[in-house]
Amino acid sequence: MIARTHILGLGTALPEHVVTNDDLSGLMDTSDEWIAQRTGIRERRHIQTDTGATDLGAAAARAALADAGTDIDAIDAIIFATLSPDIDWPASAVLLARKLGARPMPAFDVRDQCSGFLYSLAVADALIRAGRARQVLVVGGEVHSTGLDLTTRGREVGVIFGDGAAAAVIGPTPDAQRGLLSVHLHAEGAFAERLWIEVVASRRKPRIRLEDLAGDDPAIYPHMNGRYVFKHAVTRFPEVIRESLAFNGLSTDDIDVLVPHQANLRISQFVAAELGLDEAKVVNNIDRYGNTTAASIPLALAEAVRDGRVTRGRTVCLAAFGAGFTWGAAVLRW
Ligand code: ACO
Repeated sequence: MIARTHILGLGTALPEHVVTNDDLSGLMDTSDEWIAQRTGIRERRHIQTDTGATDLGAAAARAALADAGTDIDAIDAIIFATLSPDIDWPASAVLLARKLGARPMPAFDVRDQCSGFLYSLAVADALIRAGRARQVLVVGGEVHSTGLDLTTRGREVGVIFGDGAAAAVIGPTPDAQRGLLSVHLHAEGAFAERLWIEVVASRRKPRIRLEDLAGDDPAIYPHMNGRYVFKHAVTRFPEVIRESLAFNGLSTDDIDVLVPHQANLRISQFVAAELGLDEAKVVNNIDRYGNTTAASIPLALAEAVRDGRVTRGRTVCLAAFGAGFTWGAAVLRW
């Protein structure tokens, strides 16, 4: 019986092309000042040529495997978290598995947007502790830029999202003092329309219409009621973080590092203030990458490990909120 699982290695992959706020000001009515003040974002990455979320994901996965000192042969399942699958179907995880040269094994997508990494982590942990896998590869990858309305009409969403991927190798830890303590997940579909892409939709007949192809129908682009999402986010983040801490007999004072999903710097600052958490304990990299959705938590966590903020013995809390609405938190002892 395995006591605990842990993140054994992390890897990241980002497109090289940097898109600054000033670049976006040339495409739409916006400004560096507005974007930076409202979101904390200064730049993000966009792919420039045909590149799928699984192309970025495969590069991140290879880096994570190397970081863990393992290889694809030791992996028994692949979970790919994304809201921007390479194609409609089959699952992008299958395409990712092929790129990684994986032998036949379970490979599936998790479609829980900004909470996708935490949902995937929970499943990986369960598979390993149930004895159904030795190590599981969890990858979050997004290519948003090909699906954004980068005109003034779409500016509220268009400036926020960035492309990128990050991966984690999840495996057992022999050290009972270390590892994933718990993951806590939630979803409330009542608010699905507040942040979604409605089209292309199989429930519509015909599925694809001429106006979709002309790009005239705003429904083909992400729609977000920003203020509404913001209000829910600043309530749900602290709530689920407190839930995850209480489950483990911990308090906010015990958090050494908080890695929130990078939705908006102001949301993270609100959450830190609400929890009475020193902002120095909160990892932020939204200024450089924007919101990379399923990739955002492992991307920020990998940076915090690399720059020495997350070290052995530290208590790390991961937390997410996003479309669905879905939200969750995890506590790890590094
Ligand atoms: N540039 C300039 N002006 C803009 C832009 C832009 N890019 N976008 C919107 N505006 C305008 C609006 O039209 C509005 O104009 P008006 O007052 O004339 O109507 C004005 O700026 C203010 O808009 P607000 O909605 O009040 O701006 P707010 O301060 O709420 O910031 C934002 C908007 C950044 C979107 C914020 O609401 C937010 O971050 N919401 C949460 C986002 C989030 O957490 N998403 C979840 C994760 S994503 C996922 O799960 C897939």
